[in-house]
Amino acid sequence: MKAIIPVAGVGTRLRPHTFSYPKVLLNVAGKPIIGHIMDKLVDAGIDEAIVIVGYLGNMVEEWLTANYSIKFTFVNQPERLGLAHAIWMCRSFVNEEEPLLIILGDTIFDVDLGPVLKSPCSTLGVKEVDDPRRFGVAVMGEGKIEKLVEKPDTPISNLAIVGLYFLHKAAPLFSRIEHLIEQNITTKGEYQLTDALELMIEDGERFTAFPVHGWYDCGKPETLLATNETLLRKQAPARKYPGCIINEPVFIASSASLVNAVVGPNTTVGEHAVIADAIVRDSIVGNNAKVGRIMLDRSIIGNNAVISGTPQEINIGDYSEIRVG
Ligand code: UTP
Repeated sequence: MKAIIPVAGVGTRLRPHTFSYPKVLLNVAGKPIIGHIMDKLVDAGIDEAIVIVGYLGNMVEEWLTANYSIKFTFVNQPERLGLAHAIWMCRSFVNEEEPLLIILGDTIFDVDLGPVLKSPCSTLGVKEVDDPRRFGVAVMGEGKIEKLVEKPDTPISNLAIVGLYFLHKAAPLFSRIEHLIEQNITTKGEYQLTDALELMIEDGERFTAFPVHGWYDCGKPETLLATNETLLRKQAPARKYPGCIINEPVFIASSASLVNAVVGPNTTVGEHAVIADAIVRDSIVGNNAKVGRIMLDRSIIGNNAVISGTPQEINIGDYSEIRVG
């Protein structure tokens, strides 16, 4: 079966990292965000992926083709006009009579795709959230979705659509997207996939919902670090580093060097990174980064970045109180 993976977005909320690196290639718990997604898809038997690229798309293309052997088709979305528009760009590569899986390239999930791909009708992944105003939401009726609303202003449902869509046939979706584009129907300035799906529901298409308990957002620095922590907790412990203290959970790339360092908890250290005379916790350190003589907490250090501090020499008397910024 084919999967469509949209990754054309700019990732503005993750700047400055996304100025030079696509969001989906940022390292979380030892591999790029999109690597976590691809591993799930390959395990579920997906043998062909249509990847919608745009901003820094050549880097995504290079990484995917170097790391996975399934068939890829890369489709360029020159302008980010919304998710429905992104899907529309793929129309000539999809057999509209066949089922289709759409999965966002920047959201890591923990769900068994087997039953989803066998679903007799179209089905969407959902999760209960406290504040649904940032998401598309599903209003449930008896055993099916009654209505979908993109970023509702009034709280009509707290079931967020997580970015996993299974359509038992692609054609009805493409015809509704065509309608949105022809009539220039947008929500919050974009052609929304939620709106196209809602048109299908209004026309009588049956959609069910499946729960996605493990849904790990990577869109902002704080959620990227929280996802890093959650995924690290599921991994095997790191090897020992003589002269260093490792506070699990951590991921330390085998080519990284640690010298007189305290690393972790909840820390990822990328390939060829060097951490010397430093303490790093709750952080992500990129490939080839150098961290020296400093203490880092909840930090994201980009690839090839260098950060170092200066050891202080202080001679203070009894009862002194000094806070060094
Ligand atoms: P987001 O809006 O969450 O991601 O889109 P973004 O645009 O990269 O990030 P911000 O908002 O600027 O920080 C969800 C997914 O849909 C893709 C994005 O690449 C992301 O994987 N997308 C969104 C497209 O491919 N094209 C679009 O027009 C919109």
